Amino acid sequence: MENNTIQSVLQEHRTFKPSAEFSQNSRFPDPASIEALYKHASTDHTGFWAELANTQINWHKPFTKTLDDTQAPYYEWFNDGELNVSYNCLDRHLETQGDKTAIIFEGEQGDTQHISYRTLYERVCQFANGLKDLGVVSGDRVVLYMPMIPEAVVAMQACARIGAIHSVVFGGFSAESLRDRIEDADAKIVITADGGHRGGKVVPLKEATDKALSMGCDCIEHSIVFTRTKHDINMQSGRDILWDDVIKDKATTCEPTWVNSEHPLFLLYTSGSTGKPKGIQHSSGGYLLGAITTMQWVFDIQDKDIFWCTADVGWITGHTYVAYGPLACGSTMLMFEGAPTVPDAGRFWKMCEAHKVTIFYTAPTAIRALMKLGDDFPKKYDLSSLRLLGTVGEPINPEAWMWYHTVIGQEKCPIVDTWWQTETGAHMLAPMPSQTSAKPGSCTRALPGIDAIVVDEAGNEITTADQGGYLVVRKPWPSMLRNIWGDAERYNETYWAKFDGKYYLAGDSARKDSDGYFWIMGRIDDVLNVSGHRLGTMEVESALVAHERVAEAAVVGSPHDIKGESIFAYVVLKGDRPSAEDADAITQTLRTWVGEQIGAIAKPDNIRFADNLPKTRSGKIMRRLLRTIAKGDEITSDTSTLENESILLQLQGKE
Ligand code: WTA
Repeated sequence: MENNTIQSVLQEHRTFKPSAEFSQNSRFPDPASIEALYKHASTDHTGFWAELANTQINWHKPFTKTLDDTQAPYYEWFNDGELNVSYNCLDRHLETQGDKTAIIFEGEQGDTQHISYRTLYERVCQFANGLKDLGVVSGDRVVLYMPMIPEAVVAMQACARIGAIHSVVFGGFSAESLRDRIEDADAKIVITADGGHRGGKVVPLKEATDKALSMGCDCIEHSIVFTRTKHDINMQSGRDILWDDVIKDKATTCEPTWVNSEHPLFLLYTSGSTGKPKGIQHSSGGYLLGAITTMQWVFDIQDKDIFWCTADVGWITGHTYVAYGPLACGSTMLMFEGAPTVPDAGRFWKMCEAHKVTIFYTAPTAIRALMKLGDDFPKKYDLSSLRLLGTVGEPINPEAWMWYHTVIGQEKCPIVDTWWQTETGAHMLAPMPSQTSAKPGSCTRALPGIDAIVVDEAGNEITTADQGGYLVVRKPWPSMLRNIWGDAERYNETYWAKFDGKYYLAGDSARKDSDGYFWIMGRIDDVLNVSGHRLGTMEVESALVAHERVAEAAVVGSPHDIKGESIFAYVVLKGDRPSAEDADAITQTLRTWVGEQIGAIAKPDNIRFADNLPKTRSGKIMRRLLRTIAKGDEITSDTSTLENESILLQLQGKE
């Protein structure tokens, strides 16, 4: 935290204005038009959103009520309106641009596809008809566990088309994690593939699905399997059906199911402070509106753009800026199956050149990893098609920002640093790139209609520049989460209770500088940010203690050059502390174990064994000390409240 503050103070002196060329050619060339948006939003919050909802969405039945706050904090938006999200992403473009490319796909092995809006529409309809024939009806949950291939988008859109609620589980999560999510969502169908190509290997998705289903998941009636890698898999007759059989002989049209604006579009599980991930529940109308407006405001999306968001559909970024936002705006997007370093660190840049990408959106962790591998890779390619760059998932350090700006953006592309969350549905704090000057490391200002402030412990707004506090949102906004699936109480507890329902609590600390720019300082809860992915320390701890040899475990984050944070685990085994030799073997065992319990991203980078954990007399683990030790810093703070001070030497690896 201290380091961050010092760094940020230094950064404040550097600002980067958008070029005149960018601004003149943007959707908002005139500063007055942006000012007007902000003014409208601040003088008439609901009127502002109502006007956008009326102009940007095709409603089957128009809404008459914009915001219903009678059940706050269970807010509802446009709740007597009816629409279909898939209709808004596909059908409404058919007449004017049916032949336009919707998806350019590139597989890791180099195979490509160009899918027009009409073809995508037909594939979505066929698959939707297939789901219907399997008995899927509006409101049913369908879990996806798929590679980054067009069929993932087809399946999501097909669910939306018939009112089924999808829940995508990232393909890097383990069978155990998949089972937990399937069971929590009480899903009827799971859609997977034989495998996907990732990092030069085949990810065996069907095998993991089989394992998940063998450990429970009684709610599942069928699994649908897309053939991607063509390796041998087991098919359980009656239960498992090939994708091709699901769509066989199905009509290529399918009347959309009109749903209420508040009808859940999807659930997406994310980590919180407890061991159990929460199913974040999003709506149809409000969510769609957030996706569309931010595509326009932050990405400045225009007809000729080739938009590339590198996020996997297993994360919120892959929902809003792969599966829904670009299609709702009728744009062309690039989708990539593989890893950024296959076959080498030039892959992203080669693809930018080959597909003439104009807008590129990725995570700081990817930028840092590629930066480390040198300028020679990007320099081999013509990146002149790029006009706008973006980042998401964690604060970007100035060094990586400058590299992105000079080497990738060639000093002509604005960089949009976008702060948002699974819960917010769409960008919240981010620049309007034609007008807002960037400062490396700051996500700049709140977007129009987003009333974000920083408050102190008592909930009072902090107006002193550079003083940190809780980042909160004062007014509800359309794309906000609606609930936690099956746990309305936890929703209230987690996001609203701290400030008596007055504010949405983001879970991040932040400060505003003297220009009113936001600087995110980190999480206030026990959530780690590893390579831009959220992971609860409790989740990793629960996985560790579930191992038969582990008595106790504490997990903290430690700063990491590329990943942002790495996972540092302190483990107390049942029985004696292992010898140095044994420790290596047990470390491997536990890493593999956590990988199986949660997924590879959750494997601890470091495990240190001790006879005990540092605890206060009341038994509370002093995580602050564990963080200091993980960083390799000397302990300078008072440790006299520790019950077992002598344990510190062991934890530091000095004994
Ligand atoms: C962090 C990802 C700084 C933050 C869209 C937030 C960021 C969490 C930024 C949400 C950013 C996201 N600058 N920190 N631009 N974007 N974060 O739900 O801590 O996977 O609360 O959503 O990532 O992660 P999530």
